[in-house]
Amino acid sequence: MNVGSSGTHPIHSEQDVVLARQLTRKLANECGMRLIDLTKLVTAVSELARNTMVYGGGGDMDWQILDDHARVGLRLVFRDEGPGIADIKLAMTDGWTSGKGLGLGLPGAKRLVDEFELDTTPGKGTRVTITRWT
Ligand SMILES: Nc1ncnc2c1ncn2[C@@H]1O[C@H](COP(=O)(O)OP(=O)(O)OP(=O)(O)O)[C@@H](O)[C@H]1O
Ligand SMILES: [Mg+2]
Repeated sequence: MNVGSSGTHPIHSEQDVVLARQLTRKLANECGMRLIDLTKLVTAVSELARNTMVYGGGGDMDWQILDDHARVGLRLVFRDEGPGIADIKLAMTDGWTSGKGLGLGLPGAKRLVDEFELDTTPGKGTRVTITRWT
């Protein structure tokens, strides 16, 4: 496990979403994450990567292995330069979708991680940062 190591994974296709899941699984394993936490994180990654692709028009997933001296963590940032989200509160509401989804991706992902941050600017893009500690 390489504390402080980081990288970027592109998200432009369904295949990239699959690869983002695989990369997350590998990194979480390297962090020594328990299977239950790993599974939660990978599920959150599925949702956020799919949003990046579908609504953001594609983007990137940055990853970083953290160490706060007591524990190790994995931080992931989903970035796109798409249309952004006009109403964050609405977007974070269970069941609200602007498309044909279930509207559970964002609020579901938030419940599956330790830290969740959503930054968005209409017309500029969206950035979702999640962290899961071991
Ligand atoms: N990266 C993004 N860029 C722009 N809008 C986004 C982005 N991610 C989410 N949204 C908006 O937030 C809404 C809610 O997202 P969420 O993932 O919770 O639900 P969904 O994608 O519509 O459905 P589900 O994920 O359950 O299939 C989306 O319908 C979309 O309007
Ligand atoms: Mg979604």
